[in-house]
Amino acid sequence: MQSSCTESFWDTLPRPFFCLAPMSKITDCAMRRIQAMRAKPDVIFTEFVSAAGLCSKKGRPNLLPDLGFDPTERPIVAQFFGRVPEQFCAAAALARDLGFDGVDINLGCPDKSVLKQGSGSGLIREPGLVAEIVLAAKESGLPVSVKTRTGYSHEIVDEWIPQLAAMRPAAITLHGRTRRERFQGSANWEHIARAARIVRATGIPFIGNGDVTSRADAMAKAEAYGVDGIMIGRAAIGNPWVFHPTQTKSALPQRELFETVMEHAGFYEKLYPRIKSFPGIRKHLHHYVADFNGARALRAALVRANTADEVRAIIEAHLEGIERE
Ligand SMILES: Cc1cc2nc3c(=O)[nH]c(=O)nc-3n(C[C@H](O)[C@H](O)[C@H](O)COP(=O)(O)O)c2cc1C
Repeated sequence: MQSSCTESFWDTLPRPFFCLAPMSKITDCAMRRIQAMRAKPDVIFTEFVSAAGLCSKKGRPNLLPDLGFDPTERPIVAQFFGRVPEQFCAAAALARDLGFDGVDINLGCPDKSVLKQGSGSGLIREPGLVAEIVLAAKESGLPVSVKTRTGYSHEIVDEWIPQLAAMRPAAITLHGRTRRERFQGSANWEHIARAARIVRATGIPFIGNGDVTSRADAMAKAEAYGVDGIMIGRAAIGNPWVFHPTQTKSALPQRELFETVMEHAGFYEKLYPRIKSFPGIRKHLHHYVADFNGARALRAALVRANTADEVRAIIEAHLEGIERE
């Protein structure tokens, strides 16, 4: 059995602990920063970044902005996808040099573009190669965690989870669906519980993931299914308060919600000038502005905004309209 990493932030987390999921084109630095400001989870992951791309002269400058972060996001983990151990070694060394607190290996992405490269969830069928990848990433000296699914075409928790645990990752996150299920149906938390029982004996922190809707739901699932940590993805889009111990988005004064939207748009514009086009913020606006009177009309106006100033002007006009009513 390979030796585990030396003590890291993973060993100092409360129980249960909370993680913001890696989400491609969503958990960029602007979202992560807002998340850290409004209700900071115990661990934050970047969106996945191609290890191969980082190793290519042409790809690297385009990908480096995805590895930008603010110290307020710590502990922050850089997630990589790929299939070549040497590339993970280089990517993890880069993450270390950039000041990341950890590295995570993507073993769960079901997208065709990633599977075509033999990466993401495709690696569930290649445990030998995964062991090499984990070992290569560990050369950086950073704690190396893994994030995966319950199987490729069918659930194989009893086989796959012990194989992963034997690689002594710093943590294991399990999304309770197979690759074939993608995002269909419900995440199977009984499978997550079975994996948690396997991992418990190893002392490796184990994180359950899939369909968690609120902090209260997370607390209940941690207790019911015996996991050390809970990772939340989609429920955090447009709702950074999802991790807040007491505040909920629905009970928030609208002014505070709108301040957050404007601040998020401002960060997006400032952090990615010319790198990302402003409409990239639209999916966030769509989720922020929902489930209240007048949300639909406001959303329709906001998705046409092309600058943070326009977002601000639309929101100010909306608030003035409410005050006049
Ligand atoms: C838009 C989107 C992008 C995602 N990108 C990534 C990614 O880059 N890396 C990864 O490991 N998982 C990725 N995922 C999966 C999530 O991290 C998480 O496992 C999944 O959404 C289930 O959790 P949830 O039900 O809390 O959303 C992505 C999910 C979504 C919806």
